[in-house]
Amino acid sequence: MLVNMGSLLSLAQERKYAVGAFNVYSYETIRGVLDCAEQMQAPVILAFGERYLKNLDFETVYSMVQSAARNVTVPFALHLDHCRDLKNIYRAIRSGFTSVMYDGSMLPYEENKANTAQVVEVAHANGVSVEAELGSLTAGEYSQEGTASDQEIYTDPEQAWEFVRDTKVDALAVSIGTVHGLYKGEPNIRIDILQKIRARVSVPLVLHGGSGTPEEVIKACIQNGICKINVNTEVSLFTVQRLKQFLGENDQSHLSTLSLKQIEFIKEVVGKYMHLFGAAG
Ligand code: 13P
Repeated sequence: MLVNMGSLLSLAQERKYAVGAFNVYSYETIRGVLDCAEQMQAPVILAFGERYLKNLDFETVYSMVQSAARNVTVPFALHLDHCRDLKNIYRAIRSGFTSVMYDGSMLPYEENKANTAQVVEVAHANGVSVEAELGSLTAGEYSQEGTASDQEIYTDPEQAWEFVRDTKVDALAVSIGTVHGLYKGEPNIRIDILQKIRARVSVPLVLHGGSGTPEEVIKACIQNGICKINVNTEVSLFTVQRLKQFLGENDQSHLSTLSLKQIEFIKEVVGKYMHLFGAAG
């Protein structure tokens, strides 16, 4: 059942688990994530990033999700991940997305705040929830989200409080030391900063850069208020690795078999994360 992301995250916040947000950009990723959620009876977020407009347009994503979800009983949201272009935000809303992330984190604070507030006004009038980001993550290895020149700027708890008050966003993505992609060295995740943000901000908090983050860190983040965790890189790395292995053993495989194998491997890796996030029913 396709729902607004706000309702998924409020329940997660109350019951102290995190909803996984997995990037989708093809039939196989949509099918794999939805089938896994249904099998585990866990709520889930399908996250389509602006960069994947090269793969699919908004209308195609929406209709593929609608038909793939015909027999899905668990609640899920169709979310626009990391979007910098306001026009794309409005296109996604028109196409039926139930949630959008406006990413103005690279802009000066006041501009990010003003644009986010504008997005919230339009989105809320259409029953769509909004996530925004304060602070900035660096890009690790194999990341599709950012570039090596991205700087790490931790979220300022006081600024977070003001930002949420003035924009009325439904969820806030925070920067506490995770990276997009795989970590180059030892991860240094600042649970202390997360605790300070949680003490000031009441909306659900979001952790980007889930891939490669140690399990005990993920658990500590959930305990301290993270309700949504984004995972992209590791789903792709795991699936490609398993496909290579499969092809090594079955070099005459038909493309249709590879499509089914892809779904199987995506389900496996997504299931591992859902289990860790504690959202399974
Ligand atoms: P990873 O690629 O590190 O899992 O991050 C995904 C993400 O944050 C998508 O918004």
